[in-house]
Amino acid sequence: MVSVLFVCLGNICRSPMAEATFRAKVEDENLSEAIEVDSAGTGDWHVGKKPHEGTLAILRENNIKSDDLIARQFHGEDKKYDYIVAMDASNERNMKKILDSEHHGKVFKLLDLMDESREKEVPDPYYTGNFQEVYDLVESGCSRLLNKIKKDNQLKEGNTYGK
Ligand code: 4NP
Repeated sequence: MVSVLFVCLGNICRSPMAEATFRAKVEDENLSEAIEVDSAGTGDWHVGKKPHEGTLAILRENNIKSDDLIARQFHGEDKKYDYIVAMDASNERNMKKILDSEHHGKVFKLLDLMDESREKEVPDPYYTGNFQEVYDLVESGCSRLLNKIKKDNQLKEGNTYGK
């Protein structure tokens, strides 16, 4: 099983959007048995809450399931994930403070994968209110991430890697 964790600040806007969007892509490619997905926030203010209404609305518009998305805080045990995907540079810094340096190589920003894009941080819609802009970035970043994971782990559609 390959495991992927998306991380933002509050775990109510960007990272649950990425979790749900990425999971839908994994399901579309019949890779649910091979790739496990979760999300967390570096902050604890919204622990136990459902995503922000803006995130729920944009997922609904795009026919992406949002049930079971409940905010939790990032913690040291999350070092077990193979890919730890930050939404912005501050999330990345905060996680590296918590994780031993041997795990730092697993941490990167989603938009680091978008070679052609100069924007490397997913803007925080909690402050900007622009959930569409975030969805567009998350959507293309998640496609790129799935391709990378398939290549890194030699996964083919319907693969049951590690089972
Ligand atoms: P997120 O957005 O990191 O994309 O979930 C935020 C949500 C809540 C807060 C900050 C960012 N907050 O300060 O409560």
